[in-house]
Amino acid sequence: MKPIFVLNGPNLNMLGLREPAIYGSDTLKDVETRCAAQAKALGFGTVFRQSNIEGELVNWIHEARTASSGIAINAGAYTHTSVALHDALKAADVPAVEVHLSNVHKREAFRHHSFIAPAVNGVICGFGVNSYELAITALANIITAKEKG
Ligand code: DQA
Repeated sequence: MKPIFVLNGPNLNMLGLREPAIYGSDTLKDVETRCAAQAKALGFGTVFRQSNIEGELVNWIHEARTASSGIAINAGAYTHTSVALHDALKAADVPAVEVHLSNVHKREAFRHHSFIAPAVNGVICGFGVNSYELAITALANIITAKEKG
């Protein structure tokens, strides 16, 4: 089985330091460890990456088309701005789940719109690091159902 790509956008490298009241005290390394454990329990490996550069995320989504079973993506602020990520996810042709640590709908109005939501299977937000584990579980279910045909 190909790995699940877990892709992280801008400022998520600052996790643990950045607005802990909103994003918690876990670091991105902690998130990576939890994602790997959850995926492993479900029979998957993970490729876990972070970039502050939009085009790099686009390239990784393209790579995921052939190299992954599915994509969990926390695009950070690019969620609310990026047509390029929308288009890349449309082209990816593998299951994808949008993830957020915080409940973006409880926050500023500019976070209520997602450009990537229409290009993915579903959206999970508001559960802290558990959002990632839930996304991996959802992806594993979709991928397994697809395998069974
Ligand atoms: C975030 C929510 C976004 O609105 C914000 O720009 C982030 C993090 C989250 O995980 O809650 O960088 O994606």
